[in-house]
Amino acid sequence: MRAGRQVFEAFRGHSPGRSSKTPQRPRSRRALALVVPLLLLSACASDAPQDTLDPAGPIARTIDNLVNPVFIVAAVVFVLVEFGVLYLVLRFRQRKDDDPDELPGQTHGNTKLEIGWTVLPALLLGFVAFATLATLFDINNTKDDLTVQVTGQQWWWEFTYDTDGDGEFTDEDVLTANDLVIPAGQNVGLEITSRDVIHSFWIPRLNGKKDAVPGRRQPLTINADEPGTYVGQCTEFCGLSHAYMRQRVVALPEDEFEAWLDEQQAEADEPTDEAAAAGAELFASQCSVCHLARGVNDDQFEEAGDGTTELVSENAPDLTHFATRGAFAGATFNLWDDLDGDHIVEADEIGTDNGGVFNRAALEAWLRDPPAEKPMDPVTPEQVEAGQQGRGMPNLNLSEEQIDQLVAFLETLQ
Ligand code: CUA
Repeated sequence: MRAGRQVFEAFRGHSPGRSSKTPQRPRSRRALALVVPLLLLSACASDAPQDTLDPAGPIARTIDNLVNPVFIVAAVVFVLVEFGVLYLVLRFRQRKDDDPDELPGQTHGNTKLEIGWTVLPALLLGFVAFATLATLFDINNTKDDLTVQVTGQQWWWEFTYDTDGDGEFTDEDVLTANDLVIPAGQNVGLEITSRDVIHSFWIPRLNGKKDAVPGRRQPLTINADEPGTYVGQCTEFCGLSHAYMRQRVVALPEDEFEAWLDEQQAEADEPTDEAAAAGAELFASQCSVCHLARGVNDDQFEEAGDGTTELVSENAPDLTHFATRGAFAGATFNLWDDLDGDHIVEADEIGTDNGGVFNRAALEAWLRDPPAEKPMDPVTPEQVEAGQQGRGMPNLNLSEEQIDQLVAFLETLQ
């Protein structure tokens, strides 16, 4: 007990003699008694959707099967070494009646020990290296059923589907954002790239991380056992709104996935409702500089942009089927209400036909003042002078009536 207290005192930077009568000690002990359990508790969460240790597919499970034994070995080594160090420090510490000038008995060299602590770690590391390489080969040797190009942008993810499997991304293919929709139980090969800075794509329950680097196409395969929604976030600092760059994988049963793919290839429906029709006009005049809704503002988009509606959205998400996504603004805000209260909007909560409830309030708040909801890239005074603005969605100073009309229109993009 006394030894334990001495170690404790040493950590606090006090000598045992001096601090034993200071009045602060009970208070700092109480603080410690509070802080330690809080730190430990902070590692627990009942709803942790981004949990690497809770794999939801064969690839993530392969990684988990590597992590567990390696972690156990590391934990055993940690405990043995730490307790060994503590034992030696306490057992051979200087005692009150020791002569401070007298040196402890000096020893030099112990062949058996030295061989032991060289060979044993080498064997352990050899085992870890072998298991790691085997896992790496295993998870990189998948045969993909479908390829999707993943493009990181400040600050959202774009997904382009090679639906006809010809290895090219053309107008016949599908372009979407935020929600990466995949068929459950299939290997979906991702080709990850970036259009600006380096981002990193990560869905913890489906596979590890992969950097999105401009000019490169980095492969990563994901596979989800069951239909469901799996969330992740950009894990490479990529500018001011890095924390607002999230992504979702929505795994559907295969027939529903095929239906989804068909719907995504269609143009947007003509809005029938009066407010929505007014919203469509407003969209064409106000949003065409950046956003395309195929069948609504193709002409204006071509005029405003670089004259193309190719499968490159340049700098803002394609909104043709905006309301089929569970979230918007880099998957930062829910686009549909989370009806079962589990913090994740699932496929069965998306769409009016499904009984979903459109999250008008979040979308209105976004249109009222986007940079207040998700900061834009800061610009230099020179850029301001040149009329340039940073990445992100600017405030268009819309009136409440215009916001209502735009929301009504966006809700029709299902
Ligand atoms: Cu993109 Cu961080």
